[in-house]
Amino acid sequence: MASDLTPQQQVAHALADGVARIQAAASSDDLKAVLAGLTGKKGSFVAIRSSLGKVADIEERKALGQLVNEAMAELDVATQARAKALRAGEFATQIEADRVDLTELAMSARASRRRGRMHLVTQATERLEDVFIGLGFQIAEGPEVETDFYNFEALNMPPSHPARSMWDTLFIESDVEGSVVLRTHTSPVQIRVMQEWPPPIYAVMPGRVFRKETPDATHMPVFHQIEGLVIDRGITFADLAGTIESFTKAFFGPGFTSRLRPSYFPFTEPSAEFDIRRPDGSWIELGGCGMVHPHVLRAGGLDPNEWSGFAFGFGIDRMAKERHGVEDLRDMYSDDVRFTEQFS
Ligand code: PHE
Repeated sequence: MASDLTPQQQVAHALADGVARIQAAASSDDLKAVLAGLTGKKGSFVAIRSSLGKVADIEERKALGQLVNEAMAELDVATQARAKALRAGEFATQIEADRVDLTELAMSARASRRRGRMHLVTQATERLEDVFIGLGFQIAEGPEVETDFYNFEALNMPPSHPARSMWDTLFIESDVEGSVVLRTHTSPVQIRVMQEWPPPIYAVMPGRVFRKETPDATHMPVFHQIEGLVIDRGITFADLAGTIESFTKAFFGPGFTSRLRPSYFPFTEPSAEFDIRRPDGSWIELGGCGMVHPHVLRAGGLDPNEWSGFAFGFGIDRMAKERHGVEDLRDMYSDDVRFTEQFS
């Protein structure tokens, strides 16, 4: 300590120096160290206090003592203020460090997770269901593994009926050979619905069907059909034609029309194939239909003298292929997201 300074000057210096060092403290820990330096054994105030003893005049000694106490009090105030400011800053830093940015988290999750798309056949099935629900139909489903009875016999094809060869059947191993099949069409669901639902019946039955086919651009061994069944009193062929026409307009658009061509199915009599005419005049073959055969009504537990009805069935995959201009049916089952992403 410079000896040419008066004790008052020494106190003022020590105070100014102390306040400056307190205010410069960069952290709470730093502040503690500064404080220890000022008030500790080697601190400037300890030296000043001990030098007070050398002041001979009592009044002057008292006044100096007072001055030192005031200076200490000022240091204390400065310390409190600095400590408070440091704590606030450190708290904010701590909060910032602990912060978890959920927005960023959500955004990166969204970016890294690619959204799937509905399969074209699922999209088509849902649209078909919507259209038929709009026409007053209900949706029904049946099993994919069927018995010979439902897939053939109840549909007016007794064992060894030649029409069975219209469908290349895949058989399931069972105790009675040939009695369990992978359904070759959705028509067996007609029988199940007739057995379960009291008439009148207005139902569509979508689902997967199976045939022993080699996959190519227009055939798959596993594909989808939607079956329609109407059973009521006094249903005629005109109701069938009218329903096909309403469906055509509702599903494809007002510019499309339909036509029926005579055909043969064992379970309908008379039977027809129906085609859809595009606005450009070209035709799409869609499916089969006809008036439910009396044998089929009986197999379904209904009296043909009281009830009559019509049925239709067509492939969904080909419709989806047609609608989206897909060249090869096999592409629809490649399970490649880049394919499905093109259509949504
Ligand atoms: N089940 C027939 C088929 O798969 C289609 C069809 C259904 C025909 C209903 C008439 C009535 O080819």
